[in-house]
Amino acid sequence: MCGIIGYIGKREAAPLLLNGLKRLEYRGYDSAGMAVLNGQMQVLKQKGSVGNLEELLNVSGTVMLGATMGIAHTRWATHGDPSDRNAHPHMNISSDIALIHNGIIENYSSLKKELLSQGYEFESDTDSEVLVHLIDRVWKADPSIGLEGAVRQALRHVDGAYGICVVSSREPDKIVVARKGSPLVIGLGDGEFFIASDAAPIVEHTNKVVYLLDGEMAVVTRDNYTVKTIENVEQQKRVTELDFSLEKIEKGGYEHFMLKEIFEQPEVMRDVMRGRIRVEEGRVQLGGIEDYLDRLKQAKRIVICACGTSWHAGLIGEYLIEEFARIPVEVDYASEFRYRNPIVTSDDVVIVISQSGETADTLAALRLAKEKGALVMGICNVVGSTIARETLCGMYTHAGPEVGVASTKAFTAQVIVLFMLAMALSKGRTISQEEIKLNLRELAEVPEKVARILEQNDAIREIALKLKDARNALYLGRGYNFPVALEGALKLKEISYIHAEGYPAAEMKHGPIALIDEDMPVIVIATRDNTYAKILSNIEEVRSRKGRVIAIASEGDRDIEQLTPDVIFIPQASAALLPLLTVIPLQLLSYHVATMRGCNVDRPRNLAKSVTVE
Ligand code: F6R
Repeated sequence: MCGIIGYIGKREAAPLLLNGLKRLEYRGYDSAGMAVLNGQMQVLKQKGSVGNLEELLNVSGTVMLGATMGIAHTRWATHGDPSDRNAHPHMNISSDIALIHNGIIENYSSLKKELLSQGYEFESDTDSEVLVHLIDRVWKADPSIGLEGAVRQALRHVDGAYGICVVSSREPDKIVVARKGSPLVIGLGDGEFFIASDAAPIVEHTNKVVYLLDGEMAVVTRDNYTVKTIENVEQQKRVTELDFSLEKIEKGGYEHFMLKEIFEQPEVMRDVMRGRIRVEEGRVQLGGIEDYLDRLKQAKRIVICACGTSWHAGLIGEYLIEEFARIPVEVDYASEFRYRNPIVTSDDVVIVISQSGETADTLAALRLAKEKGALVMGICNVVGSTIARETLCGMYTHAGPEVGVASTKAFTAQVIVLFMLAMALSKGRTISQEEIKLNLRELAEVPEKVARILEQNDAIREIALKLKDARNALYLGRGYNFPVALEGALKLKEISYIHAEGYPAAEMKHGPIALIDEDMPVIVIATRDNTYAKILSNIEEVRSRKGRVIAIASEGDRDIEQLTPDVIFIPQASAALLPLLTVIPLQLLSYHVATMRGCNVDRPRNLAKSVTVE
């Protein structure tokens, strides 16, 4: 949520910051702004996309010329509507301190009252603005503490989550940053430093980065950086080398990031498995959990916590682990788990799944599970993310940066990781070595099958035409395809704004059937597995009420063509691997419907890629 970029070095700061904001726009895009220092503080900010800020900069950018340091922000509103005055940076009254902030200040209203009573005036409705006035207040009270000391003291008054960058014309050659709950990373260039909320805007300049931890602050000057805790204890930081390129985070010739990411899936799937499975030996080698595998196998119960699409992957994980490893699994929304006083003991394993590794509810569930003594394992995509760091053990999904707000490749990567985990937990216990070999062989064939489905993109676009004017849609699936029905419905609603619901097909007659008429498209996942006959009956039920059926079926299924003209065929696979195939046409359907409706696919309204607030 919200993106931060800061720069200090020898180059013109304004164009560099603007470029960084463009790479960060997927984190928030309702307003953008920057502050640079060239003798004095210059601030520009504007409602709307980074493009709007760019226009403003083209008109009035000359005032920013010559500045070789500055900070910039792209916002996703939490407090105060999207507007010019709520855009960051925020300034103190004398306009010599500028601050940008990601996160939420929970006690902002009491702090604001206090500051108002002391004569401070507020320009915005944001929680963030209290921070800049607090810094101003403590600095004025004791000028000797400097900017760093003022930020440190101010933060002692603050409850909530923050990633902040602060600059001041009183100490013009320094950026002070601090982190609690909202990620910050420092990029180490040649005679220059970058600060950002993630590595995306840094990677084109340097691959050397330092991740700040919660409770840490850094002072970045033109030739140095130091990291201390907020309590002022010096920290030794490890420099990490990033292994993803700029090319990977750009659109690569596709019209949208989402489409690029859908089409990347065969390659991503190979990356997820790379070095982790040996088909002929029936071996699964999962480095991140190796030392804990015995404890994982002895778990009395596994609880999976996640949100949104990651929660859907978790449901598939439940089916996989229970079927193969025979360990009881529960799947909880992280937001429910954290507030319902769950029963968790040291005999339990809690698996948290998160693409971003920063989702606030999932992080809170992780911390709660840890407190209660469970072994906590993570499945994350973003390397070095908070969840990845706070779990005892875990596995990265290696899907690469996912820029489209709607999760696609991260989901299939999560399912593959869960499949490999189920195999590792089963080995030597619940299924034979031969079965493991067979399953791994089939898993290794999935990327090629996905590539074949992607070849049907044009035919899927034709079918999308029939869905594009719908006001509602129903998605049905059974068994392993039930979570896929949920995911298909989520994809459609979040990017095309068509209301859609996913149901286990058998549940239809317990209520949703009342909705079916000629205006209701019903997308049925009807692959050849042990529930095939049942699902055909469900299709008949829909047809007899004049519902319009779009079916996802197994190649070679001639019967289904008697029931509906709109069929998307997918290659045969065993039930446990079907979600990796059946979800692909659903992702493409949503994508095409959304583009046909003129929706902003990569940046759907009201959504952000990384939900770091409750
Ligand atoms: C939907 C989507 C969201 C996320 C959810 C959790 O396409 O992307 O539902 O899945 O916000 O995010 P992560 O996985 O980053 O914890």
